[in-house]
Amino acid sequence: MEFKNIILEKDGNVASITLNRPKALNALNAATLKEIDAAINDIAEDDNVYAVIITGSGKAFVAGADIAEMKDLTAVEGRKFSVLGNKIFRKLENLEKPVIAAINGFALGGGCELSLSCDIRIASSKAKFGQPEVGLGITPGFGGTQRLARAIGVGMAKELIYTGKVINAEEALRIGLVNKVVEPDKLLEEAKALVDAIIVNAPIAVRMCKAAINQGLQCDIDTGVAYEAEVFGECFATEDRVEGMTAFVEKRDKAFKNK
Ligand code: CAA
Repeated sequence: MEFKNIILEKDGNVASITLNRPKALNALNAATLKEIDAAINDIAEDDNVYAVIITGSGKAFVAGADIAEMKDLTAVEGRKFSVLGNKIFRKLENLEKPVIAAINGFALGGGCELSLSCDIRIASSKAKFGQPEVGLGITPGFGGTQRLARAIGVGMAKELIYTGKVINAEEALRIGLVNKVVEPDKLLEEAKALVDAIIVNAPIAVRMCKAAINQGLQCDIDTGVAYEAEVFGECFATEDRVEGMTAFVEKRDKAFKNK
């Protein structure tokens, strides 16, 4: 698929998706959502990609779903648009590789929701966050009513969603919406450093950790720890587990092969 609204790049074992509709502040229209979907499919299939960075070009990460495109939707079409976004963001959330959101600017509505579908969020000091949907007469539609409360707690999520207020990066850090705030010109460098600190580890083990954490967030703890025991056991069948433990015992550097 040829991309018009995003840029997909690969550098070594890292893929990056840059939302690239800066004139519309990277607003998510159906075409952009479908390109994100195709990029996720590509990355999922590529065994050389161990981790992903998502960012935006210009002054926004993503300023939300495209309001111009939503303006004349019927109820049936509105639901379809939400189903489309939710399906793609859920696929991103469950992608078997860690995904870092490098939030360079506005992350509003669908933009905040996109970042919530990533594993880890780091932000530029210029970033702004919010779920302003109620001011447009709608609810969040790409998972905000579900993931925001899981990420920052029910009370804080309800305050943000009911008021639609926009918060700055420092406040986002204070409430745990992002892990770190950095100077704008250091954002991609920081995202890359974080990714590098992840991908030196055994990729299959990282994948299993992601699956176990995601699984555990939606079930009781007995089911969760049982799932953990299964993936823990599965790791023992990997070559990288043998390599990791042998290298430790032999006091040498390890060389993981994603096997
Ligand atoms: N959809 C469509 N176009 C958008 C957009 C959006 N969400 N956000 C910005 N744009 C467009 C503007 O219309 C403008 O286009 P023109 O130059 O053609 O007029 C261009 O991007 C630049 O925007 P502004 O001139 O408004 O820039 P600003 O710096 O003055 O303001 C802003 C920035 C505060 C982010 C403001 O653009 C804004 O409030 N945007 C809308 C934010 C919003 O409400 N997002 C939620 C959308 S609903 C949603 O996301 C539902 C869901 O959960 C799925």
